[in-house]
Amino acid sequence: MAEKSKVLIIGGTGYIGKFIVEASAKAGHPTFALVREATANDPAKSTLIRNFNNLGVTLLYGDLYDHESLVKAIKQVDVVISTVGHLVLADQTKIIAAIKEAGNVKRFFPSEFGNDVDRVHAVEPAKSAFAIKVQIRRAIEAEGIPYTYVSSNCFAGYFLPTLAQPGVSSPPRDKVIILGDGNPKAVFNKEEDIGTYTIRAVDDPRTLNKIVYIKPPGNIYSFNELVALWEKKIGKVLEKVYVPEDKLLQDIQEAPIPINVILAINHSVFVKGDHTNFEIEPSFGVEASELYPDVKYTPVEDYLDQFV
Ligand SMILES: NC(=O)c1ccc[n+]([C@@H]2O[C@H](COP(=O)([O-])OP(=O)(O)OC[C@H]3O[C@@H](n4cnc5c(N)ncnc54)[C@H](OP(=O)(O)O)[C@@H]3O)[C@@H](O)[C@H]2O)c1
Repeated sequence: MAEKSKVLIIGGTGYIGKFIVEASAKAGHPTFALVREATANDPAKSTLIRNFNNLGVTLLYGDLYDHESLVKAIKQVDVVISTVGHLVLADQTKIIAAIKEAGNVKRFFPSEFGNDVDRVHAVEPAKSAFAIKVQIRRAIEAEGIPYTYVSSNCFAGYFLPTLAQPGVSSPPRDKVIILGDGNPKAVFNKEEDIGTYTIRAVDDPRTLNKIVYIKPPGNIYSFNELVALWEKKIGKVLEKVYVPEDKLLQDIQEAPIPINVILAINHSVFVKGDHTNFEIEPSFGVEASELYPDVKYTPVEDYLDQFV
C-alpha cells in the first residue's frame, strides 16, 4: 500500500479544524498542526493541545502572517488543509504564495466546509462572505495548485441542538419558526464525520481538482421533515410559525451583525435550498458517502436522540 501523505492543518485549533486534525492522526497520516505560539500556551486551549500531543500530532509554531513559518511548515508535508476562520479567509492568498514557493504540495484544501460557494443564491451579507471563498478558489486554480474543495454543508453542532431557532440553547418544545415554506432540502453533518470524509479524500485520485460534497442520504432533510422527525421523537406536535421570504429579507436588512450573517446563510440554505438545488456533475464534483460507503456516519435521526 502507498504511504499515507503527510498532512498539515492550518487552523487546527479552531472549531472544525480540531476534528480534521484528529481524523488525520487517527487515519495514520503523519499529522502536523500550524499553531500560533500564544495559542499553544493559552490555558484555554491546553486540553486541545494535550489531545494533539496524545494523538502524535507534530505542532509547528507559525502564523498566517509569517511567510517563512508557512514555507518551513509546508515543506515538511504533502498536503495542506486550511480551516482558518471567517476573519482571515481572504488572507489564504498567503498560504497560496507559500505553497508556490515551497513547490512540493500535492494537494491544497482551502477553508471551505460549507455551501458550494460557486452554486449559491445568497443575499448580503452572506453573498460577500461566500464571494471571498470563490476568490480563493480562482486564485488556487490560476496558480495551478492541485486542490480539493470540501462542501460539508451544515455543521450538525451549529444547527441541530436548537433546530436553528434564534436565541435559545435547546430544541423547541412548543413553537418552531420555519423560514420560507420549509420544503427545500438541507444537509446536516456531524463534525467528526466531516473530519473522517475530508481525510479520506486526501490521497484519493477521484477527489483531485474536485468538489467533495458531504451529502449522505440519512442527513438530507427539509425543514418540515426535520420538525416532523423531532415531533415524533418528543411525542408532541409543535406550533409552526412560517416566515415568508419577503419578511426574512427585510429582517436580514434590519438585523445587527452577526445575526444578519446567520439569517442570510439560513436564507441560502433553507429558503433557496442551496445544498440540494443542483446536480453534482462528474466534471466538477463527487459525493463522499458514495466514494466511501464503509464510513459509518451518524445520521440526523440518531444525532437528535441526545436532545430528547
Ligand atoms: N458549515 C457550517 O455550518 C460552518 C459553520 C461555521 C464555520 N464554517 C466554515 O468552516 C471554516 C472554519 O471555520 P471555524 O468556525 O472552524 O473557524 P474558527 O473556529 O474561527 O477557527 C479558526 C482557526 O484559524 C486559526 N487562525 C486564525 N488566525 C490565524 C493566523 N493569523 N495564523 C494562523 N492561524 C490562525 C485559529 O487559530 P487560534 O486558535 O490561534 O485562534 C483557529 O485555529 C470556515 O471556512 C467557515 O466558513 C462552516
